[in-house]
Amino acid sequence: MRRALAAAALAAALSLPAAAQNAGRGRAVAEERNCAQCHGPGGVSEMPIIPSLAGQPAEFLTLQLILFRESIRRVPVMTAPAQGLTDEQVEDLAAWFASQPSTRRADRGPADAALLARGAQLSAARNCNACHTATYAGRANIPRINHQREDFLEHTLVEYRDGGRVGTDTNMNGLLYGLTDADIRALAHFLAHQE
Ligand code: HEC
Ligand code: HEC
Repeated sequence: MRRALAAAALAAALSLPAAAQNAGRGRAVAEERNCAQCHGPGGVSEMPIIPSLAGQPAEFLTLQLILFRESIRRVPVMTAPAQGLTDEQVEDLAAWFASQPSTRRADRGPADAALLARGAQLSAARNCNACHTATYAGRANIPRINHQREDFLEHTLVEYRDGGRVGTDTNMNGLLYGLTDADIRALAHFLAHQE
């Protein structure tokens, strides 16, 4: 039943007219709810294992906020920020963070040639570009995975592989099947070092 309700909420969210989104209103909701405390000013995260939101596709942000609000993607610290948001507030928050510029991360560590090579090989073998686009910038419901914190990428890929992260579909869980922790570290390093 809960699943059916969640599916209905997602379907409703996807059919909301784009014109209803308003980045200015979203900025105000973000300030009220103090999103910057964790996700950083303008959605560029400076905290370990907390994702940047800047420049993520609005549709991806909308869907994830609904998954948090409906307690489908369960992360205790995201429960309160997403609690009680109206569909319009969700769309506005998504429009605000989508409008913020994503940047190549200044705090990323030095590139490790062996990890980069292994990550590139795995990405090609598992066709990550097919969905995340040639530059890994994402589109529509598919997240940007360049310009993201390396520690968050590693953390969340391990969660998908081990079934701990529930998304809008199970593609990511299946795609990571059989990868070792070392493989995932290489993928995260490779992605975090994309332009
Ligand atoms: C107390 C800290 C905290 C606050 C405040 C917070 N978040 Fe989060 N948020 C997190 C953490 C931690 C995660 C990553 C969870 C995980 O491990 O998957 C997250 C994940 C997200 C994601 C998923 C991003 C992705 O790439 O997967 C979105 C979207 C998001 N938060 C939006 C918001 C918005 C909008 C607000 C304000 C309304 C907010 N958050 C406030 C801690 C916080
Ligand atoms: C069939 C399309 C598809 C392919 C291929 C694909 N992804 Fe994804 N990926 C998605 C979708 C859709 C999501 C969001 C799903 C959700 O709701 O959790 C996602 C989410 C992610 C996230 C979470 C980002 C965030 O900010 O929360 C990471 C990291 C990721 N993918 C990495 C990869 C890697 C690495 C590969 C190759 C091994 C890959 N993806 C291949 C569709 C795909």
